[in-house]
Amino acid sequence: LLKKCLKIMSKKDSFVQRVLSGVQPTGGLHIGNYLGAIKNFIPLQEKYESLFCVVDLHAITVWQDPNELLLNKREVAAAFIASGIDPSKSIIFNQSNVPEHTQLSWVLNCVARIGWLNRMTQFKDKAGKNRENVSVGLYTYPILMASDIMIYKATHVPVGEDQKQHLELTRDIVLKFNNDFKVNLFPMPEPIIMEKAARIMSLRDGAKKMSKSDASEYSRIMLTDSDDEISKKIKKAKTDAKPLPDTIKELERMPEANNLLTIFSAFEEEKFDLVFKRYQGKNFSDLKKDLIEIVINKIGPIRQEMIKLTNDEKYLEDILKSGSEKAEHIASGVLKEVYDATGLKF
Ligand code: TRP
Repeated sequence: LLKKCLKIMSKKDSFVQRVLSGVQPTGGLHIGNYLGAIKNFIPLQEKYESLFCVVDLHAITVWQDPNELLLNKREVAAAFIASGIDPSKSIIFNQSNVPEHTQLSWVLNCVARIGWLNRMTQFKDKAGKNRENVSVGLYTYPILMASDIMIYKATHVPVGEDQKQHLELTRDIVLKFNNDFKVNLFPMPEPIIMEKAARIMSLRDGAKKMSKSDASEYSRIMLTDSDDEISKKIKKAKTDAKPLPDTIKELERMPEANNLLTIFSAFEEEKFDLVFKRYQGKNFSDLKKDLIEIVINKIGPIRQEMIKLTNDEKYLEDILKSGSEKAEHIASGVLKEVYDATGLKF
């Protein structure tokens, strides 16, 4: 028995520690995307073999203008690099350039159960009352996401709170696949819940997430915003009627104050409590003045680098091309194993 256990354990340990995450190219990146996702990828590349994917196939689950989609894909890739993802350490690529994602996703469609998908809250939210009329792709979206992860046998997946359920689904699929085919082909992917990652809310409404679909441009700060725009948006940001409170307890009922302090603490990498201490009892104008300076200082260099990168088409294309080659090298090996295990190989 001991021998058997050791064998299983050593098998488990034989998986390469590998990170995969994806960002959708659906129109402009704001500081919520940056602080909530991309920024948290940077330290992971030192510790793990890392893949960062522009998930264009996920984007088209809702209508995308083809020309805009192309531009948005460039922008996400540029943002990855400008934010500090190093193409010599990590693999940066477009999802659709590695066909194995979709090939595996069909197999996984046949492993996952309809009941599992019916529980996905994000689908329910996104489809809303329009359920009969959204794309089939939107429904099977989480299967493609599982495939993104499993095609690299990723062991760690940094995701925000809203993607936790999709990762749970991936874990169910891994378990069922390994069981159904009596293999130990896929490792159980662990979420790296980016708890330190800030949940950034709209500047117009502290109860709503910062989002590119919000009608008001003043609700969000884009990575491409000029210093002037940043300053204007923060100045106009909604505030509570009273100055900043004296206690954390009171602060809990002040979503706007909370949000501005969260943005501050995320950019400065300073503990929220410490930031709060500095501003407790002060006027919003004091906080805003300092916040403008911080955001401009952090976003400015990223914006400049993004402009440089998006203007140098060749450089970006070369990175994405070599990225997808490296990715496909791993993915094609795993797909072969899957085809072997499932009897699809001829
Ligand atoms: N669904 C994720 C989101 O909207 C994006 C995504 C696609 C992803 N594939 C992934 C995230 C794989 C992590 C791993 O944010």
